[in-house]
Order: sequence, then C-alpha cells, then structure tokens
Amino acid sequence: MLQIAIAGDLHDQWDLSDHAVLERIQPDALLVVGDLSDGKTRIPTLLRQVRLPLACVLGNHDTGRDASGARLRHQLDLLGEIHCGWSLRTLTPPGLAVVGGRPATAGGGHHLSRAATAVFGPVDLEDSASRIQRAALAADPALPLVLLSHCGPTGLGSEARDPCGRDWKRQSCDWGDHDLALALERIRCKRPVPLVVFGHMHHTLRRQQGERITFLRDRRGTAYLNAACVPRHGEDQLGRGLRHFSWIHLSPAGLLRASHRWYGLGGELLYEELLWSAPPQVEPLAPLAALSQPELPGVIGTATPPLLKRC
Ligand SMILES: [Fe+2]
Repeated sequence: MLQIAIAGDLHDQWDLSDHAVLERIQPDALLVVGDLSDGKTRIPTLLRQVRLPLACVLGNHDTGRDASGARLRHQLDLLGEIHCGWSLRTLTPPGLAVVGGRPATAGGGHHLSRAATAVFGPVDLEDSASRIQRAALAADPALPLVLLSHCGPTGLGSEARDPCGRDWKRQSCDWGDHDLALALERIRCKRPVPLVVFGHMHHTLRRQQGERITFLRDRRGTAYLNAACVPRHGEDQLGRGLRHFSWIHLSPAGLLRASHRWYGLGGELLYEELLWSAPPQVEPLAPLAALSQPELPGVIGTATPPLLKRC
C-alpha cells in the first residue's frame, strides 16, 4: 500500500517547515497540484530539494501574468522531470504512475492562456485530451495510475460547492476541464484510473457560500480529490502551526482511504478530516450478518470540519 501526500495550491506557502514535516511523516510520494506562486522561482527551486518521489503540474498563477511565457518556461526548466504536464512520470520507488493534465490551466472547459500558448504552441481540445490519453496508456498497467491536474475534469457537478463548481459569480456552473474529462473517459476504456487529483477551486467558497465538496467517487471506482486548502499554512486556536496535506492510501487494487490532514511543525498529526474509506473486505466464510450490511454510498460529500477554519 502506498501513502501519498498531496499539496494543494501553494500560493507561496511552501518553505523548509514543509520539508521538515515531510521528513518526519515520510509519505511514499508527494504530488503538487500547481499555483506554486505567481511566477517566482523560489518554490520550484525548493521542490527540487525534496527528498521524496515527487510529481508536480503547474497552474494558471504560475504564468506570473507574463504573456511572453518566459516565467512559465523558467519554472518548467527548474522543475525538469518533476513536472509531468501532458506526460507520464513513473515513480519507482514506490511504484506509481502519474500523468499530468494540461499545464497552467485556469479551468472552464478548454482555454490556453497567452503564456501557455507561447510555451507550448496552440493545443486544441482534442490534441490536449490525446496527449493525456497517450501518456496514460504508456504507463505500466501493473502500476496504479493517478491523473494529476491543476483543475479537475468536467462532470463533477454544476453547483458552486461541487469539486469544480464556479463560486465567484452568482450563476454557478461546472468549471472543470473538458480535455481532462475526455481523456479520462478514453483511458478508462483501456485501464482503471483509481484517482484524479487536482486543485484550483479553493475549498472555502467565495461570496460566503460555505465550504466546497472536496471528494467524490463515481460508480466506476474513480475517486476525485480536490486538494486546494488555501491557505495551507495556518495555526489552531492553541497557536500551534499547521501544515495541510491531503492524504491517500492507494493499493494496486484501488483507493483505500482519503483524508485531509493538518500536521504540526514537528510532524505530529493534529487534525484529520476523513473523506472516504474502503469498505472492509468480506471474508469468504464470514457470517451472513456481515454480508447483509449496507454498502457505503458511492459518493460522499464532506461536511466542513471546524479545524478547516483554522487552516
Ligand atoms: Fe489556480
């Protein structure tokens, strides 16, 4: 079983305290969903120093509002093979295939910013979906596959509180990426995809609309995790510093457990919001009473934990 830490939109909140926490808690891998900062080089440089198997995809803020693409390109150069936009990154150890979505996406279907076009050229919806699909189908089928994208796919709901729901305008809508949804559909014709990880749509909704649903699981067994707890550095009412990571337990058979975790600066787990846990395996000779227990629902929305306010 793999334990995977996921850092949601960093928005400048990444420093050596995060490295110290990771040294203590030792996940098998770290995934970073982008929006590191606004085009600065500090965090890409730090991420190169993390001593863990690591994959990252950049977000819309990482263009630094530089339409020439120079800031985006510089960060890509710094990240090197860590960045897996439109490509496969195989982490061995621990044995995990990660495929990145479209770099620098701002969600909302399919749109390439001027900065992204300057770096990658014009990439239309079909081309983008095909790139993701090809990368995923090149992965070793024996390894669990995670899709890592800055914004999640379309199809997860149109309400403001849905994992990719637009919350900043009065009329909510599905603000997911259409190319990612297309690619996911095609990949799943060939192999399972246990997990799609993304950020971009922050957990606390604009316009006093409460908190976002951050986890869904569909009937085909694909789980969708929004990791964008922003800000991810905070402190609790006792004044203890907190560092947020989403946390996944993943086996070759699929997702076992998902949660949001807030660690103290010494690596102690101080708060956890459980999002989903796989039903226990039923033994062949289990009593009938065990067999008749109701199944867990396939889709779970998360209540807002009080600790989220402290993050
Ligand atoms: Fe973003």
